[in-house]
Amino acid sequence: MSLYPMMNLRASRHPSISYRPIRPSDLEVLVKIHGDLFPIRYELEFFHSVVHGRDIVSWGAVDRNSPNGENDELIGFVTARIVMAKESEIEDMLRCDKSRSDQSLVYILTLGVVESYRNLGIATSLIREVIKYASDMPNCRAIYLHVISYNNSAIHLYQKMSFLCVRRLHAFYYIDGQHYDAYLFSYYVNGGRSPCSPLELVTLIMTYMRKGLKLVFSRVSKNTEKNGPKRVKYRDKSCLLPMTQSKRSITIEGPESDHV
Ligand SMILES: CC(C)(COP(=O)(O)OP(=O)(O)OC[C@H]1O[C@@H](n2cnc3c(N)ncnc32)[C@H](O)[C@@H]1OP(=O)(O)O)[C@@H](O)C(=O)NCCC(=O)NCCS
Repeated sequence: MSLYPMMNLRASRHPSISYRPIRPSDLEVLVKIHGDLFPIRYELEFFHSVVHGRDIVSWGAVDRNSPNGENDELIGFVTARIVMAKESEIEDMLRCDKSRSDQSLVYILTLGVVESYRNLGIATSLIREVIKYASDMPNCRAIYLHVISYNNSAIHLYQKMSFLCVRRLHAFYYIDGQHYDAYLFSYYVNGGRSPCSPLELVTLIMTYMRKGLKLVFSRVSKNTEKNGPKRVKYRDKSCLLPMTQSKRSITIEGPESDHV
């Protein structure tokens, strides 16, 4: 297996990406890519659960036109776990029948794409697989995940895919002696979104008003730019719902840590 050489290669000029389940033969590459992409170490047990499909669902991306000839080697992955809605931290944000105990959610554990294959839409396709999977489960109400607050590329990706940022969790991650906040993103399926509370409605209206004002402002400034100095383009990273502080704080070392 040409594991290490592959990591140093640039993407082939014409990559031919296809998607398939992750299987036992992917173990070594999967461990390597997780080690390369994430600032924490996962237990071997986690990887065994992924490749054997034990309580974890996963999808892998491979380049059928790989420059190193390894046409079935993972270059991207997403792993997820099905959790009970009742036991989840987003239960209060769901429209679900509280008397039913079978309502579930899909929690994304890890998502990653080898650096030389980024910005080709691979993560987008992997997330689409998860969305399709969750939508096809009649009892599933949402997909959710945590992302560290400084991970702009991932945050951009989730926002682009219409995930809603529903919470900001203070000091959720603890890495190398430092705390970091996390955003909790959620994507509702099968009518899982709870009706807006009056507060959310007000926030929504304010968000749209702000966006409208920004649009007007940017148009006005574009006109003035023609005669004046250039402005830095504004990038909106605001959340749809107000971000609330959570009392929960975890470290991400150890086998029980669920995060991306
Ligand atoms: C996040 C990650 C999975 C994205 O994978 P990818 O295959 O490159 O994603 P896609 O090509 O589908 O989409 C990337 C989008 O992010 C944008 N993007 C990339 N870097 C960005 C940055 N620094 N800031 C803002 N947006 C960025 C791209 O422009 C693209 O958006 P567009 O389609 O609107 O142009 C990849 O960067 C990665 O593996 N990162 C390391 C591991 C990680 O952070 N995982 C997620 C943990 S929550």
